[in-house]
Amino acid sequence: MNSSLFITLIALAVIGAIAYFSAVGFRGAGKIKKVPRNLQKYLPDDQLETTQLDKILSVAVVLASLLTIMIPLYYLGEPARQESFVEEFDDVSVERGHHLYEEFGCGNCHGADGSGGAASYVEKRSGVSVTWVAPAINDVFYRYDDDEVLYWLIYGRANSPMPAWGLKGGGPMNDGQLSDLIEYLHSFQIPQNEELLEIEGNINSSLLRIENSDLQVESEIAKQNELINDIEMAPIRLPIAIEAVEVVSALISRQSGIDTDEDGLYDSVETDLSAYSETITEMLGTPVLNLNPDEEESIPGRKDASIVRGFLSELETKVINLGILTDGYDKFMDEAETGLAFLENAYEQKLWLIDFQDIADSTFDGDYDKAIRAVGIFNAYCARCHTAGYSAGAAYTKQIGSGGLGPALRGGRVNIQFKERDDFIDFIINGSVNGKGYGVNGVGGGKMPGFGAVLPQSDIELVIDYLRGMTPDA
Ligand code: HEC
Ligand code: HEC
Repeated sequence: MNSSLFITLIALAVIGAIAYFSAVGFRGAGKIKKVPRNLQKYLPDDQLETTQLDKILSVAVVLASLLTIMIPLYYLGEPARQESFVEEFDDVSVERGHHLYEEFGCGNCHGADGSGGAASYVEKRSGVSVTWVAPAINDVFYRYDDDEVLYWLIYGRANSPMPAWGLKGGGPMNDGQLSDLIEYLHSFQIPQNEELLEIEGNINSSLLRIENSDLQVESEIAKQNELINDIEMAPIRLPIAIEAVEVVSALISRQSGIDTDEDGLYDSVETDLSAYSETITEMLGTPVLNLNPDEEESIPGRKDASIVRGFLSELETKVINLGILTDGYDKFMDEAETGLAFLENAYEQKLWLIDFQDIADSTFDGDYDKAIRAVGIFNAYCARCHTAGYSAGAAYTKQIGSGGLGPALRGGRVNIQFKERDDFIDFIINGSVNGKGYGVNGVGGGKMPGFGAVLPQSDIELVIDYLRGMTPDA
């Protein structure tokens, strides 16, 4: 209730009371005074102490019992009332977090539903534009606690496409917004059984990636060669594109003629443009126009006039892009050739390849399936942080366990950090805690996720035995 309404009500009540009492006073003024109540005769003692007393006592009992029931009832309802306030508050926070998720484009990289995606990024060592894998975050709280997720949100992940979002990290969001965002992330976490159902698929796709790496790198090399060809041709194509813009502009602004289909383009313009478009298509990669002077829409659904406008603006864009390539010819060519050399070198070395039989023999008593599964799990769950270049694709991948965001693990290094297998298992199950020691000389930064809620212990042990079994690098 707002305060002015409250004051008005009180004022009305006071005025009402004054009116009532004065009226009563006036009414009584002229009458003969009655005998006061305390001098009047009342009920005899025996009646007072039996029926009358009983009546009053029973009323008291009823009222007292009502109180005994009401107070606990109110008390019992209190937590629910409090909770509903908290829930209402949470709902609003989730809603605000949802807006932030959309406003700042988290979904562009992590998927609208947070199930993972990709981002384009210039890979550091090669200078090649790559598609960088962005992890699923609809399961992030199975791996990290709130504070750890908050850390990634504030500071982002340097040397990856993940930007800093918190003010402290140089991003746009204040503490309240970050906490709303975290509430929202909580609201779309998948159930744990769904997370566990993804294990086989994750392992299969990481193994398939090893199989397809040759093909994938071949296609990247082909793309890079195309890029080099585009740069080479730019100075030759540029004058052709400039001339084309002039020719097409002149044709469009022709002053007189016959316009059979009444689409604003003279018949002669339509035929001449079509013929001209054919002469430049090979050099510039622009489409051939097949304009019919008798039809307003030579391609049903698109007006000829709009096709011609689109054609001209495509040519104008070409002039701009070819100009940029021509101006920076040496720089672009240098970068592209460095990238190509990197890719060709990667193709030769094939550092992504794994000798499963060797792992089976040295670690798993010849059990080939165990070796495959151990590698599959490592690549699906650990490689993005512990194998350099893994998120950028096969060509950029260094040897398994070579170290990235997390330390190098290959060559049996894990046996220096973890003397006891059980300590190692504990560490992988729980992950690191900021400031807390682990192993022999590790200090956690809270960045190593815990896998106890994501992988069954049997799979964790498989990876651990694989890492423990690696022989020191030569
Ligand atoms: C330009 C792409 C991009 C955008 C936009 C982006 N992220 Fe990321 N994010 C990534 C990548 C890539 C990684 C993983 C980096 C790596 O390879 O280590 C990541 C990592 C994370 C992680 C750590 C997850 C883990 O398991 O390691 C969280 C949490 C996260 N992002 C949340 C968000 C939220 C919330 C937003 C929106 C405010 C957002 N991201 C926007 C690309 C992006
Ligand atoms: C999101 C990145 C990330 C993922 C995924 C990840 N780790 Fe880590 N890991 C780290 C970081 C970072 C550290 C260093 C400790 C820290 O900063 O908290 C670390 C530390 C370790 C260490 C200790 C190494 C040492 O010498 O101190 C081991 C062993 C390890 N991780 C194994 C694994 C295994 C096995 C997996 C997969 C099941 C895995 N990690 C997945 C980031 C990751």
